[in-house]
Amino acid sequence: MNIGVLTSGGDSSGMNAAIRAITRTALHYGFDVFGIKQGYNGLLNDTIIELNRGSVANIIQRGGTILGTARSDEFETEQGMAQAKKTIDKHNINAVIVIGGDGTMRGAKIFSEKFKVKMIGLPGTIDNDLYGTDYTIGFDTAINSALDAVDRIRDTAASLERLFFIEVMGRYAGFIALAVGLAGGAEEVLIPETPTNIDALANKINDNIRKGKKSNIIIVSEGDEAGNAFAIAEKIKKCINEPYRVAVLGYIQRGGAPTANDRILASKLGFATVEALMQNIHNCMVGEINKKIVFTPFEETYTKKKNIDSDIYKIIKILSE
Ligand code: F6P
Repeated sequence: MNIGVLTSGGDSSGMNAAIRAITRTALHYGFDVFGIKQGYNGLLNDTIIELNRGSVANIIQRGGTILGTARSDEFETEQGMAQAKKTIDKHNINAVIVIGGDGTMRGAKIFSEKFKVKMIGLPGTIDNDLYGTDYTIGFDTAINSALDAVDRIRDTAASLERLFFIEVMGRYAGFIALAVGLAGGAEEVLIPETPTNIDALANKINDNIRKGKKSNIIIVSEGDEAGNAFAIAEKIKKCINEPYRVAVLGYIQRGGAPTANDRILASKLGFATVEALMQNIHNCMVGEINKKIVFTPFEETYTKKKNIDSDIYKIIKILSE
Protein backbone atom coordinates (compact mmCIF):
# COMPACT_ATOMS: atom_id res chain seq x y z
CA MET A 1 0.00 0.00 0.00
CA ASN A 2 1.20 3.54 -0.77
CA ILE A 3 -0.06 5.99 1.84
CA GLY A 4 -0.29 9.75 1.36
CA VAL A 5 -0.45 12.10 4.35
CA LEU A 6 -1.33 15.78 4.53
CA THR A 7 -2.08 18.43 7.13
CA SER A 8 -4.76 20.98 6.30
CA GLY A 9 -6.42 24.07 7.79
CA GLY A 10 -4.95 25.81 10.82
CA ASP A 11 -1.78 24.18 12.14
CA SER A 12 -1.93 22.68 15.61
CA SER A 13 0.82 21.44 17.89
CA GLY A 14 1.15 17.69 17.68
CA MET A 15 0.57 17.48 13.92
CA ASN A 16 4.26 16.60 13.52
CA ALA A 17 3.98 13.88 16.15
CA ALA A 18 1.06 12.46 14.14
CA ILE A 19 3.04 12.59 10.86
CA ARG A 20 5.88 10.78 12.61
CA ALA A 21 3.59 8.09 14.04
CA ILE A 22 1.87 7.52 10.69
CA THR A 23 5.16 7.34 8.79
CA ARG A 24 6.93 5.03 11.22
CA THR A 25 3.91 2.72 11.62
CA ALA A 26 3.41 2.50 7.86
CA LEU A 27 7.10 1.77 7.25
CA HIS A 28 7.04 -0.85 9.99
CA TYR A 29 4.31 -2.70 8.11
CA GLY A 30 6.17 -2.39 4.80
CA PHE A 31 4.19 0.43 3.17
CA ASP A 32 5.53 3.48 1.34
CA VAL A 33 4.63 6.93 2.66
CA PHE A 34 4.24 10.14 0.69
CA GLY A 35 4.03 13.57 2.32
CA ILE A 36 1.68 15.95 0.51
CA LYS A 37 2.79 19.57 0.99
CA GLN A 38 0.56 22.53 1.96
CA GLY A 39 -2.64 20.61 2.58
CA TYR A 40 -4.95 19.78 -0.31
CA ASN A 41 -2.97 22.26 -2.44
CA GLY A 42 -0.20 19.67 -2.61
CA LEU A 43 -2.56 17.42 -4.54
CA LEU A 44 -3.40 20.24 -6.93
CA ASN A 45 0.22 21.24 -7.47
CA ASP A 46 1.75 17.78 -7.29
CA THR A 47 4.11 18.69 -4.46
CA ILE A 48 4.69 15.24 -3.03
CA ILE A 49 7.76 13.95 -1.19
CA GLU A 50 8.56 10.42 -0.13
CA LEU A 51 8.95 10.11 3.65
CA ASN A 52 11.39 7.73 5.30
CA ARG A 53 12.26 7.14 8.94
CA GLY A 54 14.83 9.97 8.84
CA SER A 55 12.37 12.48 7.37
CA VAL A 56 10.36 12.36 10.56
CA ALA A 57 13.28 12.23 12.99
CA ASN A 58 13.45 14.98 15.59
CA ILE A 59 10.00 16.40 14.89
CA ILE A 60 7.91 14.94 17.73
CA GLN A 61 8.70 18.01 19.86
CA ARG A 62 8.09 20.63 17.17
CA GLY A 63 4.95 22.74 16.73
CA GLY A 64 3.47 23.58 13.33
CA THR A 65 3.70 20.98 10.58
CA ILE A 66 6.72 19.94 8.52
CA LEU A 67 4.38 19.34 5.58
CA GLY A 68 2.99 22.86 5.67
CA THR A 69 -0.73 23.51 5.60
CA ALA A 70 -3.33 25.64 3.81
CA ARG A 71 -7.01 26.36 3.57
CA SER A 72 -7.64 25.50 -0.09
CA ASP A 73 -10.61 27.02 -1.91
CA GLU A 74 -9.49 25.57 -5.22
CA PHE A 75 -9.64 22.00 -3.94
CA GLU A 76 -13.35 22.43 -3.32
CA THR A 77 -14.06 22.97 -7.02
CA GLU A 78 -14.89 20.12 -9.41
CA GLN A 79 -11.80 20.95 -11.45
CA GLY A 80 -9.58 21.05 -8.36
CA MET A 81 -10.74 17.66 -7.18
CA ALA A 82 -10.22 16.14 -10.62
CA GLN A 83 -6.66 17.50 -10.61
CA ALA A 84 -6.10 16.07 -7.12
CA LYS A 85 -7.24 12.63 -8.31
CA LYS A 86 -4.74 12.78 -11.19
CA THR A 87 -1.89 13.44 -8.73
CA ILE A 88 -3.00 10.55 -6.52
CA ASP A 89 -3.08 8.18 -9.50
CA LYS A 90 0.27 9.41 -10.79
CA HIS A 91 1.96 8.42 -7.51
CA ASN A 92 -0.08 5.22 -7.14
CA ILE A 93 -1.33 6.42 -3.77
CA ASN A 94 -3.92 3.96 -2.43
CA ALA A 95 -5.04 5.85 0.67
CA VAL A 96 -4.75 9.41 1.94
CA ILE A 97 -4.56 10.34 5.63
CA VAL A 98 -5.72 13.88 6.36
CA ILE A 99 -4.96 15.70 9.61
CA GLY A 100 -7.03 18.79 10.35
CA GLY A 101 -10.31 20.27 11.52
CA ASP A 102 -13.89 20.42 10.25
CA GLY A 103 -13.00 21.92 6.84
CA THR A 104 -10.47 19.16 6.30
CA MET A 105 -13.03 16.45 7.14
CA ARG A 106 -15.62 18.09 4.86
CA GLY A 107 -13.13 18.10 1.97
CA ALA A 108 -12.27 14.45 2.63
CA LYS A 109 -15.91 13.40 2.72
CA ILE A 110 -16.74 15.00 -0.65
CA PHE A 111 -13.55 13.97 -2.41
CA SER A 112 -13.51 10.38 -1.15
CA GLU A 113 -17.09 9.79 -2.28
CA LYS A 114 -16.85 11.54 -5.63
CA PHE A 115 -13.56 10.06 -6.73
CA LYS A 116 -13.63 6.75 -4.84
CA VAL A 117 -10.41 7.49 -2.98
CA LYS A 118 -9.77 5.81 0.36
CA MET A 119 -9.34 8.51 2.96
CA ILE A 120 -9.10 8.58 6.71
CA GLY A 121 -8.90 11.55 9.09
CA LEU A 122 -7.13 12.55 12.26
CA PRO A 123 -8.51 15.40 14.40
CA GLY A 124 -5.96 18.24 14.37
CA THR A 125 -7.21 21.61 15.56
CA ILE A 126 -6.76 23.75 18.65
CA ASP A 127 -10.54 24.36 18.78
CA ASN A 128 -11.48 20.83 19.99
CA ASP A 129 -14.75 21.22 18.10
CA LEU A 130 -14.85 17.92 16.21
CA TYR A 131 -17.48 15.36 17.10
CA GLY A 132 -16.04 11.85 17.53
CA THR A 133 -13.13 12.47 19.86
CA ASP A 134 -12.78 13.72 23.43
CA TYR A 135 -9.80 15.85 22.43
CA THR A 136 -8.30 17.06 19.19
CA ILE A 137 -4.55 17.17 18.62
CA GLY A 138 -3.30 20.65 19.59
CA PHE A 139 -6.03 21.55 22.06
CA ASP A 140 -4.00 20.70 25.15
CA THR A 141 -1.00 22.72 23.98
CA ALA A 142 -3.24 25.66 23.09
CA ILE A 143 -4.92 25.77 26.49
CA ASN A 144 -1.58 25.53 28.27
CA SER A 145 -0.13 28.38 26.20
CA ALA A 146 -3.22 30.49 26.81
CA LEU A 147 -3.14 29.66 30.51
CA ASP A 148 0.46 30.76 30.76
CA ALA A 149 -0.53 34.10 29.20
CA VAL A 150 -3.52 34.48 31.54
CA ASP A 151 -1.29 33.82 34.58
CA ARG A 152 1.06 36.58 33.44
CA ILE A 153 -1.79 39.00 32.84
CA ARG A 154 -3.16 38.14 36.28
CA ASP A 155 0.07 39.49 37.83
CA THR A 156 -0.63 42.86 36.21
CA ALA A 157 -4.35 42.69 36.97
CA ALA A 158 -3.66 42.04 40.65
CA SER A 159 -0.91 44.65 40.95
CA LEU A 160 -2.94 47.43 39.37
CA GLU A 161 -6.30 46.15 40.63
CA ARG A 162 -7.58 46.09 37.10
CA LEU A 163 -10.34 44.46 35.13
CA PHE A 164 -9.17 42.44 32.14
CA PHE A 165 -11.04 41.02 29.18
CA ILE A 166 -8.91 38.28 27.66
CA GLU A 167 -9.92 36.89 24.28
CA VAL A 168 -9.02 33.34 23.35
CA MET A 169 -9.45 31.46 20.06
CA GLY A 170 -11.86 28.64 19.38
CA ARG A 171 -13.76 29.91 16.34
CA TYR A 172 -17.43 28.97 17.00
CA ALA A 173 -16.70 26.82 20.05
CA GLY A 174 -15.97 27.65 23.68
CA PHE A 175 -13.79 24.68 24.62
CA ILE A 176 -10.58 26.71 24.90
CA ALA A 177 -12.29 29.47 26.88
CA LEU A 178 -13.88 27.03 29.32
CA ALA A 179 -10.69 25.12 30.01
CA VAL A 180 -8.61 28.27 30.39
CA GLY A 181 -11.30 29.92 32.51
CA LEU A 182 -11.40 27.07 34.99
CA ALA A 183 -7.65 26.53 35.14
CA GLY A 184 -6.94 30.27 35.23
CA GLY A 185 -9.41 31.06 38.00
CA ALA A 186 -11.38 33.49 35.83
CA GLU A 187 -14.27 35.49 37.27
CA GLU A 188 -16.41 34.82 34.20
CA VAL A 189 -16.23 32.97 30.90
CA LEU A 190 -18.20 34.03 27.83
CA ILE A 191 -18.72 31.32 25.24
CA PRO A 192 -20.86 30.91 22.12
CA GLU A 193 -22.70 27.89 23.59
CA THR A 194 -24.38 29.95 26.33
CA PRO A 195 -26.19 33.32 26.01
CA THR A 196 -24.18 36.31 27.19
CA ASN A 197 -26.13 38.81 29.25
CA ILE A 198 -24.27 42.11 29.36
CA ASP A 199 -26.29 43.52 32.28
CA ALA A 200 -25.74 40.39 34.37
CA LEU A 201 -22.04 40.50 33.59
CA ALA A 202 -21.81 44.16 34.59
CA ASN A 203 -23.68 43.40 37.84
CA LYS A 204 -21.31 40.58 38.62
CA ILE A 205 -18.25 42.77 38.05
CA ASN A 206 -19.72 45.55 40.21
CA ASP A 207 -20.59 43.04 42.95
CA ASN A 208 -17.09 41.62 42.85
CA ILE A 209 -15.62 45.09 43.27
CA ARG A 210 -18.00 45.83 46.15
CA LYS A 211 -17.00 42.53 47.79
CA GLY A 212 -13.38 43.67 47.63
CA LYS A 213 -12.09 41.64 44.70
CA LYS A 214 -8.96 43.41 43.60
CA SER A 215 -8.91 42.15 40.04
CA ASN A 216 -11.37 40.57 37.65
CA ILE A 217 -10.51 38.40 34.68
CA ILE A 218 -13.17 37.76 32.05
CA ILE A 219 -12.28 35.15 29.43
CA VAL A 220 -14.03 35.82 26.13
CA SER A 221 -14.25 33.16 23.45
CA GLU A 222 -13.67 34.84 20.06
CA GLY A 223 -16.95 33.38 18.76
CA ASP A 224 -19.17 34.66 21.55
CA GLU A 225 -22.48 35.88 20.12
CA ALA A 226 -22.22 39.18 22.03
CA GLY A 227 -19.02 40.05 20.16
CA ASN A 228 -15.28 39.83 20.65
CA ALA A 229 -13.46 41.05 23.76
CA PHE A 230 -13.24 44.67 22.55
CA ALA A 231 -16.93 44.77 21.65
CA ILE A 232 -17.99 43.29 24.98
CA ALA A 233 -15.73 45.64 26.96
CA GLU A 234 -17.22 48.57 25.05
CA LYS A 235 -20.76 47.44 25.95
CA ILE A 236 -19.88 46.91 29.62
CA LYS A 237 -18.12 50.28 29.89
CA LYS A 238 -21.41 52.15 30.36
CA CYS A 239 -22.42 50.02 33.34
CA ILE A 240 -19.21 49.99 35.35
CA ASN A 241 -17.02 52.63 36.83
CA GLU A 242 -13.80 50.75 36.43
CA PRO A 243 -10.78 51.10 34.15
CA TYR A 244 -10.18 47.99 32.07
CA ARG A 245 -7.79 46.50 29.55
CA VAL A 246 -8.34 44.07 26.70
CA ALA A 247 -5.83 41.40 25.68
CA VAL A 248 -6.29 39.28 22.57
CA LEU A 249 -4.08 36.22 22.88
CA GLY A 250 -4.27 35.33 19.17
CA TYR A 251 -1.74 33.12 17.46
CA ILE A 252 0.43 32.38 20.47
CA GLN A 253 -2.20 29.71 21.12
CA ARG A 254 -1.48 27.85 17.89
CA GLY A 255 2.23 27.10 17.86
CA GLY A 256 4.89 25.96 20.29
CA ALA A 257 6.20 22.61 21.43
CA PRO A 258 3.32 20.17 21.91
CA THR A 259 2.52 19.10 25.46
CA ALA A 260 3.01 15.48 26.50
CA ASN A 261 -0.76 14.93 26.17
CA ASP A 262 -0.78 16.14 22.57
CA ARG A 263 2.27 14.06 21.63
CA ILE A 264 0.71 10.96 23.21
CA LEU A 265 -2.68 11.51 21.55
CA ALA A 266 -1.07 12.18 18.15
CA SER A 267 1.13 9.08 18.42
CA LYS A 268 -1.78 6.83 19.44
CA LEU A 269 -4.11 8.15 16.74
CA GLY A 270 -1.41 8.13 14.04
CA PHE A 271 -0.66 4.48 14.83
CA ALA A 272 -4.38 3.59 14.93
CA THR A 273 -4.98 5.25 11.56
CA VAL A 274 -2.51 3.04 9.72
CA GLU A 275 -3.83 -0.07 11.46
CA ALA A 276 -7.37 0.97 10.47
CA LEU A 277 -6.36 1.25 6.82
CA MET A 278 -4.89 -2.25 7.03
CA GLN A 279 -8.32 -3.47 8.10
CA ASN A 280 -9.87 -1.58 5.20
CA ILE A 281 -11.49 0.96 7.52
CA HIS A 282 -11.71 4.35 5.82
CA ASN A 283 -13.91 7.36 5.03
CA CYS A 284 -14.05 8.18 8.72
CA MET A 285 -12.10 10.06 11.38
CA VAL A 286 -10.10 8.24 14.03
CA GLY A 287 -10.64 9.67 17.50
CA GLU A 288 -10.35 8.69 21.12
CA ILE A 289 -13.33 8.60 23.48
CA ASN A 290 -12.92 7.42 27.07
CA LYS A 291 -9.43 6.15 26.16
CA LYS A 292 -10.83 3.92 23.36
CA ILE A 293 -10.17 4.36 19.65
CA VAL A 294 -13.37 5.18 17.77
CA PHE A 295 -14.19 5.69 14.10
CA THR A 296 -16.72 8.37 13.15
CA PRO A 297 -17.99 8.88 9.57
CA PHE A 298 -16.50 12.09 8.13
CA GLU A 299 -19.86 13.82 7.88
CA GLU A 300 -20.78 13.31 11.53
CA THR A 301 -17.53 14.92 12.72
CA TYR A 302 -18.68 18.33 11.52
CA THR A 303 -22.48 18.05 11.39
CA LYS A 304 -23.00 16.63 14.88
CA LYS A 305 -22.46 19.03 17.75
CA LYS A 306 -19.87 18.21 20.36
CA ASN A 307 -21.28 19.47 23.64
CA ILE A 308 -19.35 21.50 26.12
CA ASP A 309 -19.02 20.16 29.65
CA SER A 310 -21.71 22.22 31.40
CA ASP A 311 -20.29 21.17 34.80
CA ILE A 312 -17.17 23.21 34.06
CA TYR A 313 -19.31 26.25 33.36
CA LYS A 314 -21.15 25.80 36.66
CA ILE A 315 -17.94 25.22 38.63
CA ILE A 316 -16.37 28.42 37.25
CA LYS A 317 -19.41 30.40 38.41
CA ILE A 318 -19.33 28.95 41.92
CA LEU A 319 -15.58 29.14 42.41
CA SER A 320 -15.50 32.77 41.37
CA GLU A 321 -18.25 33.92 43.79
O1 F6P B 1 -9.29 26.67 13.75
C1 F6P B 1 -8.17 27.13 14.42
C2 F6P B 1 -8.16 28.62 14.53
O2 F6P B 1 -6.98 29.03 15.20
C3 F6P B 1 -9.39 29.24 15.19
O3 F6P B 1 -9.35 29.17 16.58
C4 F6P B 1 -9.35 30.63 14.64
O4 F6P B 1 -10.63 31.21 14.64
C5 F6P B 1 -8.87 30.41 13.24
O5 F6P B 1 -8.15 29.18 13.24
C6 F6P B 1 -8.00 31.48 12.67
O6 F6P B 1 -7.81 31.17 11.32
P1 F6P B 1 -6.64 31.75 10.42
O7 F6P B 1 -5.39 30.99 10.77
O8 F6P B 1 -7.07 31.47 9.04
O9 F6P B 1 -6.51 33.19 10.75
